[in-house]
Amino acid sequence: MVKKSTDSKKMIDPEKIKRIAVLTGGGDCPGLNAVIKGLVRSSISEYGWEVLGIYDGFDGLLESRSMVLTSRMMSGLQLKGGTILGTSNRGNPMRYPMRENGKSFFKDVTGEIVTNIKRMKIDVLVAVGGDGTMKIAQAMYEKGVPVVGVPKTIDNDLDVTDVTFGFNTAVDCATDALDRLHTTAESHHRVLVLEVMGRDCGWIALEAGIAGGADVILFPEIPFDLNGICSHITDRKKRGKKFSIVVVAEGAFPEGGRKVYEKEPGADGTPGRLGGIGRWVAEKISLLTEMETRVTVLGHIQRGGTPTTYDRILATRFGVEAAHLIAEGKYGRMVCLRGREIESANIKTAVKKLKVVDPDGQMVRTAESLGASVGRPAKE
Ligand code: F6P
Repeated sequence: MVKKSTDSKKMIDPEKIKRIAVLTGGGDCPGLNAVIKGLVRSSISEYGWEVLGIYDGFDGLLESRSMVLTSRMMSGLQLKGGTILGTSNRGNPMRYPMRENGKSFFKDVTGEIVTNIKRMKIDVLVAVGGDGTMKIAQAMYEKGVPVVGVPKTIDNDLDVTDVTFGFNTAVDCATDALDRLHTTAESHHRVLVLEVMGRDCGWIALEAGIAGGADVILFPEIPFDLNGICSHITDRKKRGKKFSIVVVAEGAFPEGGRKVYEKEPGADGTPGRLGGIGRWVAEKISLLTEMETRVTVLGHIQRGGTPTTYDRILATRFGVEAAHLIAEGKYGRMVCLRGREIESANIKTAVKKLKVVDPDGQMVRTAESLGASVGRPAKE
């Protein structure tokens, strides 16, 4: 028995839905295909809807590129990394990059997308993505498109949901890298620095740092003190630990300093690409401690490959619940994990702020209790 919300009357009565569409937006992450499988199987078998897969995120809606997704096509998809639909993290429809007569400019193309959604006879759109995709989904909803959101990102920075799928796989990957670095660091008496992703949040660095037994864990929520880090490393050496493992989130930066970019943000508002803090930290440590250092940048390896069992289950549950949300007419909402239950929240609330690491929270205290430095100044 389906319980309808008041929104269903304003947009579309769930009983009248014939066709829904799904797109994956932003950077890919392990578990996207499991979401698609959960959504497609549930939509077809429980509700009898046709499901269109939109290629390459909102770009596909702008260019009306889609395929019909069948239940059969979903076979074995839960273990495949990436997204069978393709994605894009560069074409925000609210500021779409255009080029005409040799001139570059930005244009709001959401109106064109809304027209295409109607033309393609899409009754409800499911947007799977991170905060960027959810902001676009909210804009579509405000323009009258019935939208349901599914949160994804390896960064785990989406507020409202306890966890996003993809995060567990990324942490597993970073932990594996730390385990491998440990043995070689110990053999060579070196300081080995691992730079991990996470954008403006330190979740991957912090959790992998704890799981991988890192000696120094650096992330953007605690601007680090270089002298504090170096005395931690030299103290270890004095105690006979002639090697150290440092994990640094790509968004980490020194106290009074700034983030390091591989590509600086553009003056026109184009987002930058973080990268390089690992090398910077390694050079400084080498200079200040006179120990040999090496750097590994884990990069997109964290985003690729097969999702962990945890991510497969979470992603599949999100996909199935997205279908149920549609059937209840709960548009403008995003599925989320609270405790052990899948619930939902307004997309508008979910994108208000990022979920950052609490510098005085339990997770950071755990790392410090284990003896790791999180970049705070050394105690006198
Ligand atoms: O948001 C996911 C993420 O992997 C971040 O951790 C990272 O900063 C960014 O995407 C990298 O983006 P791109 O794939 O464009 O290099």
